[in-house]
Amino acid sequence: MPANKGKETTGTAEAEKSPGAEERTKLMIASDIHGSAYYCRRMLEAFRASGAERLLLLGDILYHGPRNDLPRDYAPKDVIGMLNPYADRILCVRGNCEAEVDQMVLDFPVLADYALFMTERLTIYATHGHIWNPEHRPPMIPGTILLNGHTHVPRCEEYPDFLYMNPGSVSIPKEDSPHSYMLLEEETFTWIDLETGKEYRKYQI
Ligand SMILES: [Fe+2]
Repeated sequence: MPANKGKETTGTAEAEKSPGAEERTKLMIASDIHGSAYYCRRMLEAFRASGAERLLLLGDILYHGPRNDLPRDYAPKDVIGMLNPYADRILCVRGNCEAEVDQMVLDFPVLADYALFMTERLTIYATHGHIWNPEHRPPMIPGTILLNGHTHVPRCEEYPDFLYMNPGSVSIPKEDSPHSYMLLEEETFTWIDLETGKEYRKYQI
């Protein structure tokens, strides 16, 4: 991952905290499960342990996709059964592997091309990345954080008028990146290795 000029640190603190131990809003950001029951289970274990209120999924949930090998424990029906109980806590955008039939089996919306939302001080444009990405940027107000999945490579990059972040993939990481997800708490983004639970990157706005 390229270096950037922000207030960045690397660390080894444990990702797990007691749920409900604090009042601050926390969001978990993950992407590209691609039907892996094993990594979906690990992701939800991390979600419960994090104390995050919401889980933002950046697409490519159920299918492995023709360009990927089958991920560990490929079982889309099992992934459906694991995610639906969390439907009231999941925010999701559509990946390029999502089909309309996926909405028939998932209890949370999965067919939106993007989600634009605000936290107390941040504006976030979340989209899978096959359409809108740093090279083909969507219309955004200055200072917006562009969140993509799709590449399966974690990123944190500063552009003149926006920030680009990518949590990587929980199931099929590429370019020697870890199985990975992100947490957002207040104005601090943290990238965490799903298999070790260790933070490996932090960026504070
Ligand atoms: Fe993907």
